[in-house]
Amino acid sequence: MAKAPKVLVLNGPNLNMLGTREPDVYGREGLADIENACHAHGKTLGLSVDCRQSNSEGQLIDWIQGARESHDALVINPAGYSHSSIAIMDALLAAALPLVEVHLSNIHRREAFRHHSYVSRVADGVICGFGSRGYLMALDALALRLNTQQET
Ligand code: DQA
Repeated sequence: MAKAPKVLVLNGPNLNMLGTREPDVYGREGLADIENACHAHGKTLGLSVDCRQSNSEGQLIDWIQGARESHDALVINPAGYSHSSIAIMDALLAAALPLVEVHLSNIHRREAFRHHSYVSRVADGVICGFGSRGYLMALDALALRLNTQQET
């Protein structure tokens, strides 16, 4: 049997606070709940899912660089770095992997400074506003892309 494609799910700063952080905006689930759901959903899709979170831009960049060798696709919620980090955008470009950007909230319905994401320029697709379900939708999109070679 072919090996399950490997997807790296990255979460950026302050997402370790999910559950207690602005629950009306980001929901009441903790990051561990979301990561468990990603592992379980990935399994049903034939994907092997790794999840990592960091508050540090450099750490996220190191993981993205490493993913080029170790993983087949990326899901990222860059959190606040979405709106500021050219360095994360450059790392994602260099990794050249299928990429879905996720935001729990609908960033376009929020403050103007959240409307622009550098990561969106280099992502294959963006999912925002569906809460934690967005991560599972991102895995669905990548499973289609990786398992069937279909464009999504
Ligand atoms: C977020 C939206 C960002 O604007 C914010 O800085 C976050 C979380 C989201 O998931 O909705 O930290 O990426």
